Amino acid sequence: MTNKTSNKMWGGRFAAGPDAIMEAINASIGFDKRLASQDIAGSRAHAAMLAAQGIIETNDAEVIREGLLTVLSEIEAGSFEFSAALEDIHMNVEARLKEVVGESAGRLHTARSRNDQVATDFKLWVRDQLDAADGALEALIRALLAQAEVGADWVMPGFTHLQTAQPVTWGHHMMAYVEMFGRDLSRMRDARARMNESPLGAAALAGTSFPIDREMTAQALGFGRPAANSLDAVSDRDFALEFLGAASICAMHLSRFAEELVIWSSAQFRFVTLSDRFSTGSSIMPQKKNPDAAELIRAKVGRIFGANVALMMVMKGLPLAYSKDMQEDKEQVFDAADNLMLALAAMDGMVRDMTANRTQLAAAAGSGFSTATDLADWLVRVLGLPFRDAHHITGSLVALAEKKGCDLPDLTLEEMQSAHADITDDVFSVLGVENSVNSRMSYGGTAPAQVRAQIARWKEKLG
Ligand code: ARG
Repeated sequence: MTNKTSNKMWGGRFAAGPDAIMEAINASIGFDKRLASQDIAGSRAHAAMLAAQGIIETNDAEVIREGLLTVLSEIEAGSFEFSAALEDIHMNVEARLKEVVGESAGRLHTARSRNDQVATDFKLWVRDQLDAADGALEALIRALLAQAEVGADWVMPGFTHLQTAQPVTWGHHMMAYVEMFGRDLSRMRDARARMNESPLGAAALAGTSFPIDREMTAQALGFGRPAANSLDAVSDRDFALEFLGAASICAMHLSRFAEELVIWSSAQFRFVTLSDRFSTGSSIMPQKKNPDAAELIRAKVGRIFGANVALMMVMKGLPLAYSKDMQEDKEQVFDAADNLMLALAAMDGMVRDMTANRTQLAAAAGSGFSTATDLADWLVRVLGLPFRDAHHITGSLVALAEKKGCDLPDLTLEEMQSAHADITDDVFSVLGVENSVNSRMSYGGTAPAQVRAQIARWKEKLG
């Protein structure tokens, strides 16, 4: 036991102060100081509303609102002394407010509780992150569009199972990621629209007997409306979970793309060259240029999805309404948000700086019998064979080419005819990779004309 006196914010019924271990497990100020500006914005809106409703004197409200700006400037300047004894950002700010403005400060907490206060602060913080993610995703999409435009008709191998499948275009591959990050963008926007309800005024859990105006504080803080049920308002952390869910999917997309960049930048592939600005060297091997940013982005999904799982487990089984368990929400979300923003910015920089190696892409596009499907399709279209038979005949020609150590277009007409007597010279026209990609004109397909249409649609969408 320490011999500290009881807490000055809530210690009326306590004779003794908390044990040091109690203080250590209870205090959140070490991390929730990041909510300072949201806390002060919420308090300023609350004070103005209390005065407008005649619940406190206008003069008190003005003194409180001014004093809160002084406290904010102290925090921003780094001169504010945070105290673990005061537990969290809410009580640190209010205690300092009292030192700055005197007795009026005691009227600020009328008709509210830390429960609606923390829900409001945290929502405002998460909302800012949704907006930041929105901007970062849009920047990344623009960087991908620029890459797609440069190489809309550059051929490269398309893979399934990481085995050569069919030739595709560089632009098509870039646009696949535009679609993924576009869905991430829309998830962030959906989450923002759903979460934008104000918990302020829900008070501890049951609402308040004071004639407050929740519309007024909601509007002042940029919320669309007040949350409709006070019990739900103080115990809801869906908004944080939705952010973490959207962030996890986005981080998973970043991880997949990062993995491709790691593979593509290797000496064996050489599909892309990453800039010096987004690569690192080795302290022992002078020739090395490592894709560290891509590797770290590939890994970030671990902690981001980890945060999502952690908060789900915190919330699981919690009865209504607020429980202190919920204080465990913040560090997870802070860490996930910081790392998502960093990963998005690093990917944006890498994509902007990277160069696709057209010649290397084209050379790889033709290897691995990538136009075998085109040959099978020709047998169906021109000779009228059932696709299954065409597949089998093409398979035997692939085996023959493999045995000879050549590609499909290098086989002679006689060799082709050994697999099916009716094959003509015309077959060679479909075995080139350019022809192959140009022929895939179906909506969303890899033909350069389709890719350019995708690019145009996205440019129009982004404006
Ligand atoms: N620091 C607390 C949290 O982050 C603030 C709310 C505390 N409410 C309470 N009834 N003890 O959850």
